[in-house]
Amino acid sequence: MLRSVIKGVGAYLPERVLTNKELAKNVDTSDEWIVARSGIHQRHIAADDQSTSDLAIEAARRALKNAGLDGTEVDLFVVATATPDETFPATAARVQSALGKPGIPAFDLQAVCSGFVYGLAVIDNFIKTGQVKCAMLIGAETFSRILDWDDRTTCVLFGDGAGAVIFNALQGEGSPKDQGILSTHIHSDGRYHDMLYVDGGPASTQTTGYVRMKGKEVFRHAVVNLASTAHEALNANGLTIDDVDWLVPHQANKRILDSTATKLGIDPKKVIVTVDKHANTSAASIPLAFESGIADGRIKTGDLVLMEAMGGGFTWGSALLRI
Ligand code: UT7
Repeated sequence: MLRSVIKGVGAYLPERVLTNKELAKNVDTSDEWIVARSGIHQRHIAADDQSTSDLAIEAARRALKNAGLDGTEVDLFVVATATPDETFPATAARVQSALGKPGIPAFDLQAVCSGFVYGLAVIDNFIKTGQVKCAMLIGAETFSRILDWDDRTTCVLFGDGAGAVIFNALQGEGSPKDQGILSTHIHSDGRYHDMLYVDGGPASTQTTGYVRMKGKEVFRHAVVNLASTAHEALNANGLTIDDVDWLVPHQANKRILDSTATKLGIDPKKVIVTVDKHANTSAASIPLAFESGIADGRIKTGDLVLMEAMGGGFTWGSALLRI
C-alpha cells in the first residue's frame, strides 16, 4: 500500500519574544500564576508587518531545504490555520504562489488546535489514493491577532508560529513496521461550541472577533478526549503505548500534557514539550514541537511517533507515524 512518508520538516517562530513578566506589566496576571497553571514562560509574537502566510512561507522554505527539494516538486499545499491572512482566498494559495507550481491544489483547513492532525488525515488520503505524490502540510497561526489583550484568562496562553512537514508517497507493506503515516483518527462535537470559540466572523458580526474560552471545561474534556484518541490510534495498529518512542501532543498546557501522559502510562521523558517556550500556537504547535524533537536529535528514523490534539469545536484526533 502507499504510505505518506516524511521527507522534510521546517519551523519558523517570529523574532519577538514576549515573556510572562513583560505581559504582567499590562495585564492583571503574574509570571508565577502563568507558570503554575499552564507551564508557559514565554511566547513568540509576529511583527506588525508579518501575516500568517509570511510565517507559513518561511516554515515551508525551511522544510523544502531540509528535504532537498524545491517547491516545484510539491503537488499539494494544505495550510491548517484559524488565523488566515484574509477571509478568502486561502492562505495556502499565497504559499503556493510563493513556492509552488501554478495550477496545483492549495487550500486551508480549519479545525483550530486540531488542524494539524486533521491535515494529516487529509493529505494521507490524497497520497494513499494516488492523487498526489508529494504534499506539504503547514500549521501556521498568528493567534496574537485574535486575542483580547484585556482578558487575562486567554491572552496569556497563546502565541504565533508555523511548522511545515513534507510527505512523499512510498510503497509500504501495510504493516505497522512501515515508514510513514500508519493511521489517523479525527472527531468533532459541535455541542461544545460555547466552550472555546471566537466571538466574530464574516457571517455573524462582520468583525474578526476574539478568543473566548471556558478554560476549566476545556481542560477536563481535553484529558479525556486525548487519552481516548491515543488509544484508538494504538488499537487500530495492534500496538501498545510501550511501542511509542515519542508523544508529540498539541501544546496547550503543561498540566494537560502531564495528565494525558499519566493517563496513557507513558514515560514523561518520551513527551516532546515546547509549551514553555512557544505557548499554545494552535495548528502550529504539533509541527513546531515535532521539528524541535527532530532538530535536537531526539526523534530519529524508525521511531514511532504518536501525535494528538484537541481544540475548538470541539475537535480532536490522533495520528500514528513511523519516521
Ligand atoms: O488548545 C486547546 C484549548 N485550550 C486549552 O486546552 C486550555 C485548557 N484550559 C487551561 O489550560 C486552564 O484551564 C487555564 C490555564 C486556562 C486556567 O487554569 P485553571 O487552573 O483552570 O484556572 P481557573 O480558570 O479555574 O482560574 C483560577 C483563578 C480564577 O480566580 P478565582 O475565580 O479563583 O478567584 C481566575 O480568575 O485564577 C484566575 N485567573 C488568573 N489569575 C492570574 C485566570 N486567569 C488568570 C491570569 N492571571 N492570567
